[in-house]
Amino acid sequence: MAKRLEGKVAIVTGAAAGIGRTFCVGLAGEGARVVAADLRDVTETLAEIKALDGTAMGVQMDVANPEDVARMVKQVTDIYGRVDILVNNAGIYPTSPIEQISLEDWRRVTAINLDGPFLCSKAVVPIMKLQRHGRIINMTSTTFFMGVPNFTHYVASKGGVIGLARGLAGEVGEFGITVNCIAPGLTNTPGVSGSPDILQTWDMLVEAQAVKRRQEPLDLLGPLLFLASDESAFVTGQTLCVDGGWTRH
Ligand SMILES: NC(=O)c1ccc[n+]([C@@H]2O[C@H](COP(=O)([O-])OP(=O)(O)OC[C@H]3O[C@@H](n4cnc5c(N)ncnc54)[C@H](O)[C@@H]3O)[C@@H](O)[C@H]2O)c1
Repeated sequence: MAKRLEGKVAIVTGAAAGIGRTFCVGLAGEGARVVAADLRDVTETLAEIKALDGTAMGVQMDVANPEDVARMVKQVTDIYGRVDILVNNAGIYPTSPIEQISLEDWRRVTAINLDGPFLCSKAVVPIMKLQRHGRIINMTSTTFFMGVPNFTHYVASKGGVIGLARGLAGEVGEFGITVNCIAPGLTNTPGVSGSPDILQTWDMLVEAQAVKRRQEPLDLLGPLLFLASDESAFVTGQTLCVDGGWTRH
């Protein structure tokens, strides 16, 4: 059976670990050539893709640095000649009450979580326009809908990427480009397991979900592949909550 993303090129930021690594492996499993981009080393992600006989390249970069983003996109077009899918996944989620968030903290969170998706989207849109095809998927968070406390900079940045998707969707739809968001609930990743503040809320959260178990990165893969494929060609500017029914709207 033909794979859903055969011939496509997919960039995933934040690809070294967690949700990003799961997305890279899943996209490669559907036949996409994957660009695994991260601040950190992506050797383990590339090894998992190789084990599936998939095609991938790694790029060490900072999504908040415009020069890094330009270098990455040039490398990708030099090697693969196109960009079909961009997954704006890299993100950080420090917790703090607002009195303890310095302007520098605020700017670091918004630089990675919001400037990063802006810079990466801006860099790939001209290529996608020429191709008259593209899929941009931003990772937001259900914390934006729930207004989770002690996370103000994070929640604001995740609202920002929903705005980015809505605004950009209206601008690029005529070129066959869709822009959507996925909002996960609390998901079992290295970033979460490294945060005792977040971990202590987990049992309470599972209780509030309709599906009463912890969320795993693989729970997000089906929705990602749908939004990355031609099956979602008429879906744009939307945010899909994938959170076991924590939010219901
Ligand atoms: N895990 C959750 O519960 C959860 C819930 C909602 C939304 N999200 C969102 O999903 C995305 C992935 O989350 P995760 O839990 O897998 O995170 P994680 O911390 O486990 O992994 C994030 C990856 O992003 C990379 N990264 C960080 N800053 C970067 C930068 N400036 N440039 C390039 N790469 C960078 C890290 O090196 C890391 O490999 C984030 O945007 C996060 O906000 C996660």
